[in-house]
Amino acid sequence: MTARITVIGSLNMDLVTNAAKIPAPGETVIGGDLHTVPGGKGANQAVAAAKLGADVSMVGRVGNDIFAQQLLDNLTAVHVNHHHVIHDKEAASGVALIVVDAAGQNSIVVAPGANGRLTPADIDAAAEAIKTADLILLQLEIPLETVLRAAQLARQHGTKVILNPAPAQPLPPELLALVDILIPNESETATLAGLPVGSPAEIEAAAAKLRQSGVGTVILTLGERGALLAREEETVQFAPFIPVQVVDTTAAGDAFIGGFAAALAEGKSVTEAIPWGNAAGSLAVARRGAQTSLPARAEVGKVLAGASPEQLQGVA
Ligand code: RIB
Repeated sequence: MTARITVIGSLNMDLVTNAAKIPAPGETVIGGDLHTVPGGKGANQAVAAAKLGADVSMVGRVGNDIFAQQLLDNLTAVHVNHHHVIHDKEAASGVALIVVDAAGQNSIVVAPGANGRLTPADIDAAAEAIKTADLILLQLEIPLETVLRAAQLARQHGTKVILNPAPAQPLPPELLALVDILIPNESETATLAGLPVGSPAEIEAAAAKLRQSGVGTVILTLGERGALLAREEETVQFAPFIPVQVVDTTAAGDAFIGGFAAALAEGKSVTEAIPWGNAAGSLAVARRGAQTSLPARAEVGKVLAGASPEQLQGVA
């Protein structure tokens, strides 16, 4: 069965450089070459899912500059339908300023540009893409009222809603009530739950707190600690896939979400789909850039073929 996924979210051009360290406030450091790489959490997740075989549509806005066409061309290259990406003549395309340090960790500032002008009316105009999808993917690089409208339409038409609350911000209960699966990373979990996420016990407590907000299924992406699934019937810890070498963590979370969503939409269970996300994330951190780092289905398949039971089924 072909998985149909609609992503409602951001498209950014990432302006990236490497530096020995991420500068402290007030500090200047000399970096490496400048790279322009297609990114944006929405577009990254769309590309990640498409590369794993899903039939993906993107809803968003690009601006009036040279980045716009490059961002769309990158979607076309992996067959992401961008019929519902609006060319906004009054705004610049979204841009992310990214520094990657020697350990592959990053610091990102996003100038939203056209992403910040995606309206609820734009979502209504793209209603067909939401109605006909198996699931929609949402993040928080577009206005919250627009995220809410997409979730409302999806719920109305029986389309599953996955929210990646990134970058983290307080979420209205009316939005959380429409979310089927919430997928935050460690820092987003700490912000949303208002709790520390240091020890395994703290992580479980934070996941439980997020579930109290009304979301049935919470999946915490924990980087080198794997992923934690928390839902009514179970809490399961999935072991990570260890990357050959961490060169750049940019879009690792997007790779997880695209991989997880592609597997779920093609009929796999939540527990079967999580290793797809973990495997995709581990491959993405071994390469530079956002969309340039996202793996093909065969690569994920190869990683999964060598997986242990702790990676495939997790530990309850
Ligand atoms: O998740 C990574 C992404 O965050 C980057 O591609 C950047 O554009 C920001 O949106």
